[in-house]
Amino acid sequence: MERFSITTPIYYANGRPHIGHAYTTIAADVLARLNKKLGKEVFFLTGTDEHGAKVADTAVSVGKEPQEFVDEIAQSFKDCWEKLDIQYSDFIRTTDKRHELGVHLALNKLKELDLIYEKTYSGLYCAGCEAFVTEKDLDENGLEPLHQKKPIVVEEKNWFFRLEKFLPKIKQAFEDNKILILPSERKNEVLGLFQQGLEDFSVSRSREKLKWGISIPFDDTQVAYVWIDALLNYVTALGYGSDNRELLQRFWPADIQTCGLDILKFHTIYWPAMLLALGLELPKQLLVNGYFTINGQKMSKSLGNVIDPMALVDEFGSDATRYLLLSAFPYGNSGDIDVNNFQTKYNELANTIGNLVRRTFNLAEKYGVKYERISNNLLEIYPQLNNENENILEALIKLVRSQAQELNVGIDSEAPWKEADEIKRNEIVAKYLKKVFELADLLEPVMPKTALAIFDSVDESGKITNPPILFPKKV
Ligand code: MSP
Repeated sequence: MERFSITTPIYYANGRPHIGHAYTTIAADVLARLNKKLGKEVFFLTGTDEHGAKVADTAVSVGKEPQEFVDEIAQSFKDCWEKLDIQYSDFIRTTDKRHELGVHLALNKLKELDLIYEKTYSGLYCAGCEAFVTEKDLDENGLEPLHQKKPIVVEEKNWFFRLEKFLPKIKQAFEDNKILILPSERKNEVLGLFQQGLEDFSVSRSREKLKWGISIPFDDTQVAYVWIDALLNYVTALGYGSDNRELLQRFWPADIQTCGLDILKFHTIYWPAMLLALGLELPKQLLVNGYFTINGQKMSKSLGNVIDPMALVDEFGSDATRYLLLSAFPYGNSGDIDVNNFQTKYNELANTIGNLVRRTFNLAEKYGVKYERISNNLLEIYPQLNNENENILEALIKLVRSQAQELNVGIDSEAPWKEADEIKRNEIVAKYLKKVFELADLLEPVMPKTALAIFDSVDESGKITNPPILFPKKV
C-alpha cells in the first residue's frame, strides 16, 4: 500500500487555538483525507509546543503551574480539532515522555559526533520569536517587526550547532527540488536565506533563565532550546527515542510538512541541518502558508479580533467553516479574511451544493431513479488535479465550486421535469444523480460530513431514501 505522511507545525501552548492555527490544520487534514481517499495509508501528525519562556510566563500570569496550564491548552486544541473534524493520526506534546527521550537521544548523538560545542554568546534576543535576532532584523523603532517587542541583550554560555557543515547540502536539496518548496515563489526566498550568511545556532539555553524545558543530558546548567525541542517532534512522534522504529521507517521522511511563512527559516535551515546531522532523511515537500489578517488587521489579543474557530463551527457547522477558511484566498498566499463575507459564502454553498443535491434527489425520489455507486471519482480526477506547479488545495476548492455551479446550470437547461419521454427523463435524472455522487467524492476531503450525508442518502438497492438538507438557512 502506498503511504503518505503529513505534519503541521506544533502550536504554542500559550493560548487557546485561533483560526490561524485552524487554517493550517484544516489544510493538512484536507490533504490527509485526499490521500486516504486515493487509497494510501496515511499518517497525519499535529500537536502542541509546550516549553519555553513564553508558555511559562503565560502560566504564571494566570496563576497556574506550567504543566497544569499546558494540559488545559493541549486539551483545548484537541477539542477544537475534534469539532473541526480533524482526523489526525497522532497528537504529540513536547511534554510527553516519549518526546523527551527522543530529544535526549538527539542531543547525545550530536555531542558524540562533535556537531555541537560550547561557546559564550552575546546577542539580542526576541522573546516573541524565542530566537536571537540581529540589528538588521529590527524596524526603525528598534522593535522586532512581527511581535513589536524590543529585544533584550542576552549573554550566555550555550551549546552551538555546527551549521556551516550542512549548508551546501541543504541548499542543493532545495535547488534540485529534493525538498520541493510550494508555492514555488517561496523557493527564492529560501535560497536568499543562504546569501544572508547563516551562523551556528544554539541548541540550549541557560537553566537559570529558562526552567521550563527539556534538560540537556550532559549539562545540568542548560535546557534544550525550545525550537530544537519543538522541531524534533516530527520524528519523536514516530518513535525516534524508543526501541520501536517501525513508524519511523514507514512514515519518515514526511511527504509534506506544512508551515507558516513566519517559521520558514526554522523549517528550511535548522530542521534539515538537524536531520542530516542525525542521519535522518529530508522531508520531500514543504508547503508554506501565508499569514492572514482579519478584516484588514493583524490578528492579535490586544486588538481583540482573535477569532475562535469553535464559535465559527457553532455558527456555520464544521464543513462550512473548513470551506470558508480554506477558500478565503489561495492557499500559500497571504491575504485577508473578511468575516463579513462568511455569511454570503455560506449562502452560496446552500444555493449551489445544497440546492443541487436537494433538487436532484427530489427528482430521483419522484421518478424512482436509482443510483448504484461503483467508482471513486477522485481516483479519476486526481491526476488532472495533481499538477506539481499547481496548488492542489486551491485546485480542489475551485473544482468543487465550478462543478456545483455547472451542474445547477445544466440541470436547469436540460429540465428533466419538462421531458415528456419517460425514458429520456429518467436518463437525465440518472446522469445528474451520478454527477452529484461524483461531486461528493470530490468535496469529501474538504467537507466530509456533507459527503457522508450524500452517500448515506441512498439505500442498498440504490434508492434515495434519506435526502439531506445541506447548509440549512439560519434563522
Ligand atoms: N510553535 C511554533 C511552531 C513549531 S513547529 C516545530 C509556532 N507556533 S504558532 O502557534 O505560533 O504558529 C504555528 C502556525 O500557525 C504558523 O506557522 C502558521 O502556519 C499558523 N498561523 C498562526 N497564525 C496565523 C495567521 N494569522 N495566519 C495564517 N497562519 C497562522 O510557530
